[in-house]
Amino acid sequence: LKVGVLISGRGSNLQALLDAAGDPSFPAEIALVLSNKADAFGLERAARAGVATAVIDHRAFPKDKPGFEAAMTAALDGAGVELVCLAGFMRLLSPSFVERWHDRLINIHPSLLPSFKGLDTHERALAAGVRLHGCTVHFVRAEMDDGPIIVQAAVPVLPGDDAHSLADRVLGAEHRIYPLALRLIAEGRVTVEGQRATVTGHPL
Ligand code: GRF
Repeated sequence: LKVGVLISGRGSNLQALLDAAGDPSFPAEIALVLSNKADAFGLERAARAGVATAVIDHRAFPKDKPGFEAAMTAALDGAGVELVCLAGFMRLLSPSFVERWHDRLINIHPSLLPSFKGLDTHERALAAGVRLHGCTVHFVRAEMDDGPIIVQAAVPVLPGDDAHSLADRVLGAEHRIYPLALRLIAEGRVTVEGQRATVTGHPL
């Protein structure tokens, strides 16, 4: 399965995907890393792994999201991409892009969805006093941080946690479940019916 990864920054989840895909037995190949920011550190990670990169700066398409997204789809199609992974990609995608990649577009979000959609999830989890927090890999739908859930991981909120310590703990779980979710999809183990995804043949 040929995969494109969309990033905007650090790219630690991208690194987890690159590391997993570096194993010859992994059923997916990272064919393109696409960033909307030229200085995203993730671009260096991709180059180091010998993976093709592209920069499509949204600012080159002022008030033209369709143009920006058409350029991204052209780059993804050009690389033969079949599945797109959002990994810290900080632009909201339009319904038409989401529809174009329906059930072929996944995201990782740093909370146990449907709790804490949006930004600052760790601060909000601490403020809410939850005992369990975590992360979610899901198919993307037009609504932000919505869509059929593929894999989740929970981590404890510990006494003395601040947003940084909690974010670190969640990030460790993100780096485990994003490659897992990609592998499950590439192995054809994930089906979507309505609002729900079902995973077969793997003890989640
Ligand atoms: C991660 O916490 C991810 O869940 C969120 O943005 C962050 C990206 O981090 N969507 P990185 O760029 O993968 O290091």
